[in-house]
This record gives sequence, C-alpha cells and structure tokens, in this order.
Amino acid sequence: MRGAALLLLALGLQQAEGRCFFNRTEEYCLCYRLTQQSAGSIIQCLAASAVEFQGGDLEKYADFAIEDLDASTIDMLGSLEIRKIIFSDLLVPEVLLARILRFFSYTRVQEMVFESCSFVGRSSWADMAGQALPIVSLSFHNVTAAALAGREQDLSPLGRWLGALQELSVTASHVAVLPCAVGRALGSLRSLDLAHNSLGDDSLAPAFCRGAFAQLQVLSLRHNNLTSYHAVCGGVQLLGELRHLDLSHNALITGTSSSSACQWPASLRVFNLSNAGLDEVLTPLPPNLEVLDLSSNRLHAVDISLRSLQALFLSRNVLPALPSIRGCPALRTLHLDNNLIAELPRDEVLLLEHLRDVAVAGNPFNCTCAGAGAVQALAAMGCLGQGWPQGYVCQAPARYQGVLLRDVPASVLQCNPAAVLAPVCTGLALLCVAVAGGLLWARGARPRWLCSLGRQKDACNTAERL
Ligand SMILES: *[C@@H]1O[C@H](CO)[C@@H](O)[C@H](O)[C@H]1NC(C)=O
Ligand SMILES: *[C@@H]1O[C@H](CO)[C@@H](O)[C@H](O)[C@H]1NC(C)=O
Ligand SMILES: *[C@@H]1O[C@H](CO)[C@@H](O)[C@H](O)[C@H]1NC(C)=O
Ligand SMILES: *[C@@H]1O[C@H](CO)[C@@H](O)[C@H](O)[C@H]1NC(C)=O
Ligand SMILES: *[C@@H]1O[C@H](CO)[C@@H](O)[C@H](O)[C@H]1NC(C)=O
Repeated sequence: MRGAALLLLALGLQQAEGRCFFNRTEEYCLCYRLTQQSAGSIIQCLAASAVEFQGGDLEKYADFAIEDLDASTIDMLGSLEIRKIIFSDLLVPEVLLARILRFFSYTRVQEMVFESCSFVGRSSWADMAGQALPIVSLSFHNVTAAALAGREQDLSPLGRWLGALQELSVTASHVAVLPCAVGRALGSLRSLDLAHNSLGDDSLAPAFCRGAFAQLQVLSLRHNNLTSYHAVCGGVQLLGELRHLDLSHNALITGTSSSSACQWPASLRVFNLSNAGLDEVLTPLPPNLEVLDLSSNRLHAVDISLRSLQALFLSRNVLPALPSIRGCPALRTLHLDNNLIAELPRDEVLLLEHLRDVAVAGNPFNCTCAGAGAVQALAAMGCLGQGWPQGYVCQAPARYQGVLLRDVPASVLQCNPAAVLAPVCTGLALLCVAVAGGLLWARGARPRWLCSLGRQKDACNTAERL
C-alpha cells in the first residue's frame, strides 16, 4: 500500500485544494488539484481502472526524491488494477516525468495520456536504459514541449520501451517535423495519429524514411498542411505494411496532376480523402483498396475501377448523376447523399441491386418514372439505409415539389406497369412471410387470404410451408 500511495502521491501532489472522485460504474477516478492534505483521497482510486490527474503545477516537485522500492512495494504495484493514466492541464517538469516513469515498469498500466500539458526543461533518461514498460499506448493532445529534433540521443535510453510501443498519438500539438530516428525507434508501432498538426508536404519523406515505422498499419494525417497528393504518395511509399491512411481535412491542390510514377503501398486498404479540397479524383489510386472515402469534396464526375473496392463514400459532392461503378464488382456500400443527382432511372437499379447499403438522400429528385423510379424500387428491396424516407424529397415536377418521394403514387413513377410489380410484390411477400409466420406460431392457421394479396405466389407458398 505504501508504494502505491507513494506513486499516486508523487503524481498527485498539487498546490490548490482538491481531491479524488471515484465513479464506480465507470471505474474512473478523477483527482482534481490534489494537495498534500487531500492526497489521502487517492486511496479510493486503487480500485479504478483509469485515473485522471487534472490541473496544477508539478514544477516545484522537480526535486522530489523517489527512493528505490522494496520487494513488497513492487508486489503492491503489480497488483494494482489501474490500466490507464491521464494527465490533464498540468505543467510537467521532464525531470520528474523521467523519474516517475520508472514506477510504471512495476505496474500494469497500458495506456498513458497527456492532455493540455506543458513539458518543461529537459531530462536525462539514463535511468531508463534497457527498461521495459507495460505501456503500449501513448497519447499527447494539445501539449507543448521542447522540440524533438536534435534530442534523439537524449531519448535513446528509452529505446527498449519505444521499440515495443504499439499506438502513438500526437495531436493538435504543432508538430511540423518528425525526425527519421523517431520512426526507426518505434519499430513495433501499429498506429500513428498525427491529426491537427502542421506537417507539410516536405516533412513526410524524412519522417517516414527507410527503416522507420516498419510495422505501421494505421496512419492519420488528418487536418495538416498537406497540399500535394504526389508528395504525400512519395512520402509514405516506404511504409510497406500500411493499411489505413487518413488524409482528410487537408487542402490538396488538384489540376496540377501530371501523372506521377509514385506507387502507393500495395498493402493500403482504407483511404480517406474526405474534405480534401478535391475537384477531381486523383490518380493513381492505391490498387487494392477496399474502402475509399471521397465525401465532402467538389467532385462532379467519378469514374473508378477498383476490383477489390467494397465501400465508396461520395456524400456531399456536386455529382449530377450516378458515377460509373461498373469497374467495381465487389462494391457493397455506395453513399451518394447530398449531391445534385436529379435522376436515378429504373434501369440503374440493376447496377445497384447487388449493393447492400445505398444512400441517396438529399438529392434534388425529379419525381418522374425516368427520374426516381429506381429509388422506390431500392427502398422496396430494403437497400436504402438511414435517411429513408424523410431525406428523399422531390424537387420536380412542380406538382410534387417538396413531397416525400415515398408519398408519390407508384403510378407516377411507373414507366410500364409490369416493371413496378417486382419490388412491390417482394414487399408484400415479406409481409406475408412475417405475418403468416406469426399467425402459424400463434394458432396454427394458414392465412391464404393474406397471401393472395401478394402477387408473388412462390414467395407466399414458401410462407405457407413454414
Ligand atoms: C458515473 O458515470 C456515469 C456515466 O457517465 C454517470 O451516469 C454517473 O452519474 C456517474 N456517477 C457518479 C457518482 O458520478
Ligand atoms: C491547450 O492547452 C492549454 C494549456 O497548455 C490550454 O490553456 C488550452 O485551453 C488548451 N486548448 C484546448 C483547445 O484544449
Ligand atoms: C503550410 O505550408 C505553407 C507552404 O507549403 C507555409 O507557407 C505555411 O506557413 C504552412 N502553414 C503552417 C501552419 O505550417
Ligand atoms: C474519413 O474522415 C472523416 C473526417 O475526418 C470521418 O468523418 C470519416 O468517418 C472517415 N471515413 C472513414 C471511412 O473512416
Ligand atoms: C423531369 O423529368 C421529366 C421527364 O423525364 C422532364 O421532362 C423534365 O424536364 C424533368 N425536370 C427537370 C427539372 O429536370
């Protein structure tokens, strides 16, 4: 107990009045501006799985002595339930951090988070040489610290730990460069989140240099200062394990797209180009993509041919018509909501009917047979997910302006009477199956009268046999 209290004391000593609050349902303990007097309330955090230390200035404890631990203390630390530690709104002397970090080698804390912290001063990390830590996920959000560049040597004693780290996130912290050596030290890292920083086109190639981030699978460069698609491609092309790349919320410049020899990593499966300022689809695209997000751009034409593509997001663009998707035979999800598509003719349902998840809400539908017949058909097949029916509104003809597409009489949307039967029948047949099943279960009756309403005899017969 003494060791644990000592650890928490070292972390929690604060100036102003404060205390810890334990939320048992969430197993979360929040310690707010602890003082020496209120530090005793830390005891209740011993049962928490996450502890947050919020507010204060640790600077005056920079000289805080932490003695070597005895065996019983080490046992105690090892039995703590705490898995996640969060430091927020704190001024942290790096010297103190270096000393405290040693404690964690005896605990089972897996995740450490610093939010809105300022790291001050520099420390020698020599005590950590060869030490392994159980922390596999490290996250910094809105922090300030002395620049990393030129300090690779300072941090080298952390090599064994850094080499085992799996997730790192450094967000909203004005990161503009990432030294090559950092990536080389992070040899097991799977996920790197660098969102909301100032990385530019030229900073990628040095950061993702040969041998850096050898195991990296997920990389977020969301909301940075990237402008060139081809520079980004060149910057990440050595990441041979990369599966998921997020470039959303950058202002990629199009129009200069002279063809480039750059090849994206063949391992790439998920590519996020949402909100990237695109007015055309840039090439080349990674060849083995399964998920491509191009939503919230200014695309007016899309012609994509990717044999393994399963999901294509084109919401919030200015597409005037259904994009060409014939080259994507594996597509199951297609989102086209909030574009300028006025017409989705019935024969295009044939293109879409193997899809499981289609969204076309928020388009200015021309509610005629040629314009919107396909939408009712898709709805009847149960393909339209969220947004149906309230997001499907007619813009034309004048008579139906503002009317929900669902409420337009089928006869209006029907080009020839035979065509409208199939989906309607499927709908009734499903109802038939459901109701018949329910009735059979309830009283063993066979509701033939109900089935005779449906025109698809086969489906109904199936229901009767149930
Ligand atoms: C604990 O957290 C839950 C979920 O956030 C909340 O509903 C509850 O009120 C909290 N309990 C206390 C005692 O604060
Ligand atoms: C970022 O951290 C600073 C303290 O370092 C704080 O004053 C500021 O409010 C934080 N900003 C956000 C958006 O959290
Ligand atoms: C973004 O990059 C441009 C040049 O590429 C540079 O002039 C600008 O200062 C950068 N902005 C930030 C916030 O780093
Ligand atoms: C792409 O990024 C946007 C915004 O950053 C996010 O809302 C969206 O869910 C992401 N798409 C995918 C497929 O992960
Ligand atoms: C709607 O479709 C009809 C029939 O195809 C066509 O005559 C009409 O011009 C279209 N209206 C608009 C606003 O596109």
